[in-house]
This record gives sequence, C-alpha cells and structure tokens, in this order.
Amino acid sequence: MKKVILTGDRPTGNLHLGHYVGSLKNRVALQEKGDYDEMYVFIADTQALTDNFKNPKKVRDNIIEVAIDYLSVGLDPSKVTIFIQSMISPLCELTMYYMNLVTLARLERNPTVKQEIRQKEFGNSIPVGFLNYPISQTADITAFETTIVPVGDDQLPMIEQAREIVRSFNNIYGETLVEPNALIPDNKVCRRLPGIDGKAKMSKSIGNCIYLKDDSETVKKKVMSMYTDPNHLRVEDPGDTKNNPVFIYLEALSTNEHFRKYLPEYKNLEELKSHYEKGGLGDVKVKRFLYDVIEDILTPIREKRKYYEENIDLVYNILEEGSKKAKEKASETLNKVKKAMLIDYFDEKTF
Ligand code: TRP
Repeated sequence: MKKVILTGDRPTGNLHLGHYVGSLKNRVALQEKGDYDEMYVFIADTQALTDNFKNPKKVRDNIIEVAIDYLSVGLDPSKVTIFIQSMISPLCELTMYYMNLVTLARLERNPTVKQEIRQKEFGNSIPVGFLNYPISQTADITAFETTIVPVGDDQLPMIEQAREIVRSFNNIYGETLVEPNALIPDNKVCRRLPGIDGKAKMSKSIGNCIYLKDDSETVKKKVMSMYTDPNHLRVEDPGDTKNNPVFIYLEALSTNEHFRKYLPEYKNLEELKSHYEKGGLGDVKVKRFLYDVIEDILTPIREKRKYYEENIDLVYNILEEGSKKAKEKASETLNKVKKAMLIDYFDEKTF
C-alpha cells in the first residue's frame, strides 16, 4: 500500500510554538526523511469557517499567513503538496455522502467537538456545519487515501471518527477507502504545549501563545513574564519542574547542543532540573536560557518568513499549483466513491 501523509491547520491565526512542537517540526522531519509516496499539507479554511462564518475576513487574511508559516518552517513545495481546502470541491461531495454514515449522537460524543461546543458557548444553538466538521475532516483525509495523519493529541478523536466512517463505508459499499492512522510526537510534552500562563493549552483564543512570527523583543517579554512554580518564591526554595511551563518548554525544545552553546555549566536538562528541584536556582536564569533556545529556533524561521513576505506572488503560485494537483487526486477518489455507491449512471448504463 502507498504511504500517504496528510495534515492541515485552520487559518484562524498565525501558527505558534504549540503547533511547532506538536506537528510542524514533525512534518519537516517526515519531509526530509522522504519515506512516503505522497505528502500533503493544507490550509483548512472550510473548517475554519464552521465557527468563523461571520468573520470571513479573518479566515481570508490568515490563509496567506499560515502559508508563509508553513514555508518559513521549511515545508518544501517540491516535496509536499500545499493546498487550500475550499479549492477542492470534491471534498464537499464526499462529506455529503459520508454524512449518511454518522449519527447525531456520535458527533455530539466526540470529545474534541464537545469541548469546543462548551468553549464557544453554543448552548442549544449548535450550527449544523460546526457539528459536521469531523465528517468533513474525514473527507479531507480519505480523499487523498491518507495512511498517516501527523497531529497533536486533541485530534485523536477526529482520526478515530474517520476510521469508523471508513469501516462503515467499506462495509456497506465494498472495500474503497483507506483507513488512516494518527501519528503523534514521541516526546509526550510535545503533544500539548501549555500556554505561557500555565493554562492547559497554548491557544490563540486565550492569548497565551508565542508565535513563530513574534520578533525577539516580543519573545523576550513573553518568556520573562511566564508563569512558573508559584511556590518558588526565593532562589533558595526548592522548585517544581513538572507543572512548570518554563521547564515543559525546555523539555519540548532544548537539546544538549543548546546547553553547550548557552548554558555550559549544565550538561543537560536533567542537571538543570535537579538543581531547580533542590533549590538555589532562580527563575530568571532558566527563563534567559529558554529565551536563547527559542531564539535559536525562531531566527532561521524569521529569515525565511522575510523572504516569502517580500515574494507574495510566489506564495500564491505555490498554493494555486498545489490546489490544482490536490483536486485531481481528490476527484479520482470521489469517482471511486460514486462508483461504489452506484451513482456513476453514465459510466455503467444499467437497466
Ligand atoms: N482539525 C484540524 C485543526 O483543528 C485541522 C484539520 C482539518 C485537519 N482537516 C484535517 C488535520 C485533516 C489533519 C487532517 O487544526
């Protein structure tokens, strides 16, 4: 079987460090490893509109921002097809057919959807389009015969639901669709990075993110203001590293090379942690190191961003070419689906 990798992001804001450690870094590594037949990364504007339908300008503006984020972290359009979801009309048709295979109760039970409904305070007025998005996401995944979906752990319920739809479809209409598998980062702390305020998740709507686009000054301010261990009042006090976002970020981002470069008195994170836990290590010193680590990662990304910002036509070309290519592949799958569902009337003139 072919190895097809696919993943996407909603264009509702710039991508941040949570996206970087949870998925972007992984994608670039997969791209460089080259162990796949096809790889797709896309901007999920149709999905973004399910809860931003009153705010089309936001989605429009962020298409190009997310595209630049992708290219700046190193996604390479000669290796990966980068496209825009709404440009691929077969995805809507697939969604329509898959809707028959899913109950309302099943959608309402999806833990990620459930949490979002609560967060967005929809109450009893849940838009159908929003509730439907796991089905539309199944169309995204299956249209490309995706086998591997690299995502953060909040997306696991979506992949599970996609697998159920695939099984149900194949059961009823015969073996047609490919069952996808999620790929989550090995490093557990990377699966869900907390916000700089220590809240469970780095999230644009909470405003606790460090963006890939942030300049050095902004990053410094954010890092220096980060929540740490509230009981670590004086330098001599023993500190907690487990629920401390500064240490969680270091766990996700720092390498031994960073220690050699910026904090040679410690060999590695283990040493730094044990000093903090024992007492005698101040937050400011750890934060300064974290700032250096983040800057080390963001500096090359910022340079690439500058290039693409100055060459916007090139970015649009990449998106247009990618969308054309993606549409061809999705159309092939749609044809298979319609054939399996016996809605290929003019190919098979039965009587
Ligand atoms: N739901 C994803 C997010 O919130 C975006 C997305 C849409 C996606 N379709 C997808 C991710 C298909 C992986 C595969 O960011």
